[in-house]
Amino acid sequence: MASSSLIRFSPFLLFLILPLLLIISISDTFCDGLATQQRPFNNTISAIFIFGDSTVDSGNNNFIRTMSKCDFAPYGRDFDQNHTPTGRFTNGRLVTDFISWYVGIKEFVPAYLDSSLGTEELITGVSFASGGSGYDPLTPKINGVIPMEQQLQYFREYKARIAGAIGEENTKLLISKAAFLISAGTNDLVVNYYGTPFRRQNFTISQYQHFLLQLTHDFIQELIKEGAQLIGIVGLPPIGCLPIVITTFSGRPFSGRQCLDTYSAVAREYNQMLQDSLQTMKNECKRIVYADIYKPIDDMVQNPTKYGFEDVHSGCCGSGYFEVSILCNLRSVICPNASKYVFWDSVHPTEATYYNLFEALRPTIDIVIKS
Ligand SMILES: *[C@@H]1O[C@H](CO)[C@@H](O)[C@H](O)[C@H]1NC(C)=O
Ligand SMILES: *[C@@H]1O[C@H](CO)[C@@H](O)[C@H](O)[C@H]1NC(C)=O
Ligand SMILES: *[C@@H]1O[C@H](CO)[C@@H](O)[C@H](O)[C@H]1NC(C)=O
Repeated sequence: MASSSLIRFSPFLLFLILPLLLIISISDTFCDGLATQQRPFNNTISAIFIFGDSTVDSGNNNFIRTMSKCDFAPYGRDFDQNHTPTGRFTNGRLVTDFISWYVGIKEFVPAYLDSSLGTEELITGVSFASGGSGYDPLTPKINGVIPMEQQLQYFREYKARIAGAIGEENTKLLISKAAFLISAGTNDLVVNYYGTPFRRQNFTISQYQHFLLQLTHDFIQELIKEGAQLIGIVGLPPIGCLPIVITTFSGRPFSGRQCLDTYSAVAREYNQMLQDSLQTMKNECKRIVYADIYKPIDDMVQNPTKYGFEDVHSGCCGSGYFEVSILCNLRSVICPNASKYVFWDSVHPTEATYYNLFEALRPTIDIVIKS
C-alpha cells in the first residue's frame, strides 16, 4: 500500500519531539545559548543592534507620529508573498537583513518599537533606527522622527528589559558579543543642510562635515560606554546620485538626468574624514569597522548592466523623480520589476541594490567575524 510509509510516521512522534525541541532551543537561548547553536561562523556574534536612518529602519516609524512613513503599499511589494509593507523604506529586505541572515543570527532584524516582540526575538537583536533621522539633532526634529540620542536611550531601556529576563551577567555577555551597526548622515546633508536654510546660516559645508564627524564620534563613544565591542559605521552613499537630489538641484530634472558630483564630492570627503577619525578610535575599541557603501553604489550607477540594472537615475515608484513616503502610494505607477532599478523611490535603494551592497560588504564581514 502506498500510504503505509506515511502511517509509519506517527503524529504522536511530533508531539513528543516538539516540546523537546522547544526545551532545547529555549535553554539554548536563555542559558548558555550564546555559544552553542550550530552557525556558519561558529556563533561568534550573539546579536545585532542597529541605529540610524531609513536605510536600516525596519519599521520603528510605524509606531510614531510622523510623515516619514512607509507602512503601506507599494512598499514591501517584494518582501514576501503577501507583499507586506513592514515599514522598511524599500520593496523588500534591507542590507541589515541580509547581513543578519548571513552571519547566522536570523532572517530579519525587527523594529524595537514593535511591542509584539518576544524575549527570544529581542535577545538576538533589533533595530532602533528611524527613517529621516541623522546625527545632527536638528535633522530628526525637521522630520519629526527619533533622534540618535533617543535611539541610544531605547537601547538602555532594552538592556534593562533583557537583564530582567536573563540576568545582568548574561546581558553583559550578550552585548559584548553583539555587532553594532550605525547608518546615518545622508539626511543631515540632503534634508537638513542643503534642504533648509537653518544650518547653512551658521556652518560652511566644511564646518558642517566636522560638526557631523564630532557627533558620530560622540555616538560611538556612547555605544562603547554601553558595552559595545564590535561596531560598524556605514559611510555616506554618492548623495549626488539620489533621484531626489538630481530632481531638486540639477536645474533640469526631466532630461539628461545624471549624478551631481558637487554633492557626491561632499560625501566622498566626509567618508575620508570619517575613516581617518575611526583609525584614531581603534585604540579605544579594537573592533571598529568602516563599511564603505559609496564605491559599490557608484559602481552600480556607472556599470548598470553588470548588475542587471536598466535605470539608475530615477526610482521605480511613480515618475521616479520625487515620489517618496506618502507620495509613493498605490496611485503611483510602479515599475513591473524593481530589480532593474537602483532606486525604489526617489531616495531609497531597491532590495536588489541592498543585496549587491551586502555582496560588496561580505569580504569585510568575513574578516571581522573570523578575527
Ligand atoms: C568552531 O569552534 C570549535 C571549538 O572552538 C572548533 O573546534 C571548530 O573548528 C570551529 N568551527 C569553525 C567552522 O570554525
Ligand atoms: C546660528 O547661530 C546663531 C548665533 O550663534 C544662533 O543664535 C542661532 O540660533 C543659530 N541658528 C541655528 C539655526 O542654529
Ligand atoms: C527582473 O530583473 C532582473 C534584473 O535585470 C532579472 O534578473 C529578472 O529576471 C527580472 N525578473 C523578471 C520576472 O522578469
